[in-house]
Amino acid sequence: MTDTSDPVPVLIVDDDPSMRAALRQWIRLAGFETREVATADQAIAQLNPGFEGCVVTDVMLEGEDGMSLLRRIKDLDADLPVVLITGHGDVPMAVDAMRAGAYDFVEKPFDPDHIAEVVRRACDKRTLILENRSLRTQLEESAGLESRLIGASPAMQALRQQILHFARTDAAVLITGETGTGKEVIAQALHDFSPRQGGPFMAINAAALPEAMVEAELFGHEAGAFTGADRQRTGRIEAASGGVLFLDEIVSMPLALQPKLLRVLQEKKIDRIGGTKPVEVDIRLISAANIEPAEAVQSGRLREDLLFRLNTIELRVPPLRERGRDALLLFDTFLNRFAVQYGLEAPVTSARDEAFLQTYSWPGNVRELRNAAERFVLNAPVSPQPLETLVTGQRDPSAALAGGGLKELMDAYERNLIEGALRRHGGRISDVMNELNLPRRTLNEKMTRLGLSREQVGQSDAAES
Ligand SMILES: Nc1ncnc2c1ncn2[C@@H]1O[C@H](COP(=O)(O)OP(=O)(O)OP(=O)(O)O)[C@@H](O)[C@H]1O
Ligand SMILES: [Mg+2]
Repeated sequence: MTDTSDPVPVLIVDDDPSMRAALRQWIRLAGFETREVATADQAIAQLNPGFEGCVVTDVMLEGEDGMSLLRRIKDLDADLPVVLITGHGDVPMAVDAMRAGAYDFVEKPFDPDHIAEVVRRACDKRTLILENRSLRTQLEESAGLESRLIGASPAMQALRQQILHFARTDAAVLITGETGTGKEVIAQALHDFSPRQGGPFMAINAAALPEAMVEAELFGHEAGAFTGADRQRTGRIEAASGGVLFLDEIVSMPLALQPKLLRVLQEKKIDRIGGTKPVEVDIRLISAANIEPAEAVQSGRLREDLLFRLNTIELRVPPLRERGRDALLLFDTFLNRFAVQYGLEAPVTSARDEAFLQTYSWPGNVRELRNAAERFVLNAPVSPQPLETLVTGQRDPSAALAGGGLKELMDAYERNLIEGALRRHGGRISDVMNELNLPRRTLNEKMTRLGLSREQVGQSDAAES
């Protein structure tokens, strides 16, 4: 028995009604759902590359024989099992059939138990093939997403899982997070990994357009609808039909337009400005906000009823400073990407750079870090400087660090430096002393004060103490 909950379908192809009845009886008794057709064309019409069961066909069909049907099925899906029913003594044909990719053949007159057994094995095999296929797709998808939305922190891993999961649905998704955290990357991924991937991805950023233009951009207009509208123009909502409409910075959507937008989203129909009849639209809605949407509702910038249309699913993207060591991973990846792009060598980061990467507050998040990596690569051959200087410029470096008083900042800074060096040297104290130019005693004192141990960060089997 196959272990799926719905009965697995078996397509019976035979032009003889009494033969179909007999097959139906035995195959149903074995626990399968049966579908019956009389010709090869009808059979092909019933099948698709994801067909969950197997096909049982007579080799002698009117018009077209079972062998040619077998080939057509193999073209459709090479892994779809086909069981052939052959006349008595048709051994050469059966051999040919096996060569052409038939799963098995059963000789007439057949034994009911035998046919049930063959069908069962064919369907079990089919279930396994389909499971493998879906696993492979999932693996490919998550690998693809991992290189677009980089991050090994638990928060980013969970976020990637959610994206792949919600991409399969048509639910409205609202993405919230500070500037530069990757909201647009996520919106694009939700489109690219969804069944709408072949459809358009239409983005509109209300904050980037003059208020007066937003309406025409969104809804489009007929020629002559207003002064300056000399040609008919399709709005972004209409152009997004069949795909995704991405409403970026939703909080900047002019308040006066929000009821009209809401109506379109509810009715899935739009009226062009100056148009006479509404146009149907089929869109999936993704939106983004870089401030807390609930606060925008409080302050009267965003209508609550519109928010409720947008936030069926809410994905929160954490700021970079809350992603642990992801800053290191991202920086390293960007260094290599820019090095390739500019045909330069990827510069080496120092302990100080790495400490900075982890302690800086990154108010511009991944975008800021990416820009820093680009400048770091470009500057390295001519005027190498510590990353910190490059990023904070003339600013007092401590002011740029996240939270806490001077003492906490200094401690955090020291801890990161020492931790980074310990990690790089696999916990070998003498190498850390060398790199940081510290006597053993001072290093030991600092490590004790900062609660660091070499076992914790490096390898406990390091050569010496
Ligand atoms: N996790 C990530 N991995 C790789 N690149 C990233 C990641 N997050 C963001 N980026 C890159 O950082 C830059 C900013 O990302 P994005 O434009 O998606 O941010 P945003 O949240 O939409 O920002 P804003 O609110 O300012 O519009 C882009 O170049 C994007 O490719
Ligand atoms: Mg954005």
